[in-house]
Amino acid sequence: MYHVKVKVCKDPAEVGKLAADLFENLIAEKPAGVIGLATGSTPLPLYRELIAREKAGKIDFSRVHSANLDEYKGLAPDHPQSYRRFMQENLLDHISIKYENTIVPDGLCEDVDAMCEAYERQIEEWGGVDLQLLGIGHDGHIGFNEPCDHFPAKTHEVELTEMTRDANKRFFDSIDEVPTAAFTMGCGTVMAARKIVMVITGKDKADILNAAFYGPVTPEVPASILQFHPDVTLICDEAAYSKVGK
Ligand code: PGA
Repeated sequence: MYHVKVKVCKDPAEVGKLAADLFENLIAEKPAGVIGLATGSTPLPLYRELIAREKAGKIDFSRVHSANLDEYKGLAPDHPQSYRRFMQENLLDHISIKYENTIVPDGLCEDVDAMCEAYERQIEEWGGVDLQLLGIGHDGHIGFNEPCDHFPAKTHEVELTEMTRDANKRFFDSIDEVPTAAFTMGCGTVMAARKIVMVITGKDKADILNAAFYGPVTPEVPASILQFHPDVTLICDEAAYSKVGK
């Protein structure tokens, strides 16, 4: 078993700073590196920190490439709740990365298999992901890889669980507007990244943090597969870490 590096911080702001250090170091070593990005509330302090560090001259994103984990099926890139729009508003529009060097799965694609294959191919052509950022769902999902009986390998379409739709309905006017399907990198796509950093904050994530990193590796908890990756850093706050060893 590999050893997951665990860093416990006092609050989400510190989680953002420690995670930003990993991105800063990667880009200093590899200015045209490939970063894997994630949506959700947990990465927001990190994104604010990355924007501030580029403004302060500590990071240069101008040659960096980025690939996002997932996108809702049926939402246009400029839909207020699309993950493409989330990324533009919360990070990409505020740093020097070139739009053409950023990819998010196409929520409106007509040929799903072709889009998913092209997504994998683009990442490969860039040389693979150097540092993949992940959040975790309350059910242990990574990207939109929900609990199931196997670990999906590649970028694919998924039906969203009621738990995930319910967790995400806060961003929509009603649950009926939350898409029922999405496109996501597979667990295999994620595991192919050279380095992975997972950020987890808040007491409501304490049970799933414990299950994912200190329980058995099982597709019932998709994030548990990270225990088999050789270079994972878990950065969490004290609240999220509070069930470990209890
Ligand atoms: P959150 O989402 O950061 O908004 O909790 C994480 C996820 O569902 O992957």
